[in-house]
Amino acid sequence: MNFLRTALTAGLFIVGSSAAFANTCLATYTETAEPVLARKCTACHNDASPGSGVSFQKGSGYDFLVNVASEQLPTMNRVTPGDTSQSYLAHKISDTHESVGGSGGKMPPSGRLREAEVEAIIAWIEGCTVEQ
Ligand code: HEC
Repeated sequence: MNFLRTALTAGLFIVGSSAAFANTCLATYTETAEPVLARKCTACHNDASPGSGVSFQKGSGYDFLVNVASEQLPTMNRVTPGDTSQSYLAHKISDTHESVGGSGGKMPPSGRLREAEVEAIIAWIEGCTVEQ
């Protein structure tokens, strides 16, 4: 717990003075989800060419995801903290995006994430909170 608090404080420090809220999402994203997304998804989704409006490049992926509306399904965020059913990213990697009104293919388009990789992303979304 102490470690978590230290990590969070350090995180807020980096984000800067505008961050007047405790953001557990960012700390756990950097630890668990970002390594998977940066490794498996940046061939198409990177800063230079953010495929479908999203980049998963290290250091910038988070800002494209949390509480940001999906391009394909603007009524749903890419990531809604604590709610995978309202997180388009979770639907795209689980191949359930069409059942909620989305379009296009599952992600990644060819091959697949390992089960542990999918779980890391799902667990990050379920476990994170952004307190305003
Ligand atoms: C080969 C290129 C390619 C790779 C690799 C790829 N994507 Fe995509 N992605 C696309 C394209 C093209 C679209 C838009 C068309 C579609 O959805 O099929 C898209 C759309 C998306 C969207 C919808 C964005 C929105 O706002 O509506 C998400 C989320 C997404 N991808 C996540 C991922 C994740 C996570 C990975 C890695 C596991 C990944 N993609 C890997 C090409 C790719």
